[in-house]
Amino acid sequence: MRSIPISIQRGLMPLLFAAAAAPRPALADGAQRPDLDSPATIAAGAKRFNQNCVYCHGNAGSGGKGAALQGRHDLTPEYLFQTISNGKTRGSLLMPAWKEAFSEQEIWELGSYILSLRDVGTKK
Ligand code: HEC
Repeated sequence: MRSIPISIQRGLMPLLFAAAAAPRPALADGAQRPDLDSPATIAAGAKRFNQNCVYCHGNAGSGGKGAALQGRHDLTPEYLFQTISNGKTRGSLLMPAWKEAFSEQEIWELGSYILSLRDVGTKK
């Protein structure tokens, strides 16, 4: 174990430092998405949802002007990311794009919250 070649150690050090410093990722492809099942991610998304989305999507995504977001097993993480980023229209109803308002991290958090509503029964 003592005989790790020095060249490999040198090669690893920058990687270790990069991981420890965890710089804010600036990725366009969403590769740097957070753990969508983590309670902290879901909670951050819930908070932002309640501030920005309830008006159209109802309490806990129960629906309104915007589509109901409960019990939606058809919504994939990628679809949520793209749709929240770029907005959506249905007839004369319009959801604005949110990518100027929120970071990618924040958009993933919103998606994570919506995914957490998959097993919430839709209100009648
Ligand atoms: C001004 C009203 C409005 C606000 C505010 C709004 N939305 Fe929407 N949203 C809509 C409309 C309208 C649609 C398209 C309706 C449809 O698909 O039935 C939509 C569609 C969506 C969809 C796609 C649903 C589907 O079935 O394809 C998602 C996901 C979504 N919104 C998430 C959000 C999130 C997250 C926020 C807050 C950041 C938000 N919306 C804020 C009106 C709104």
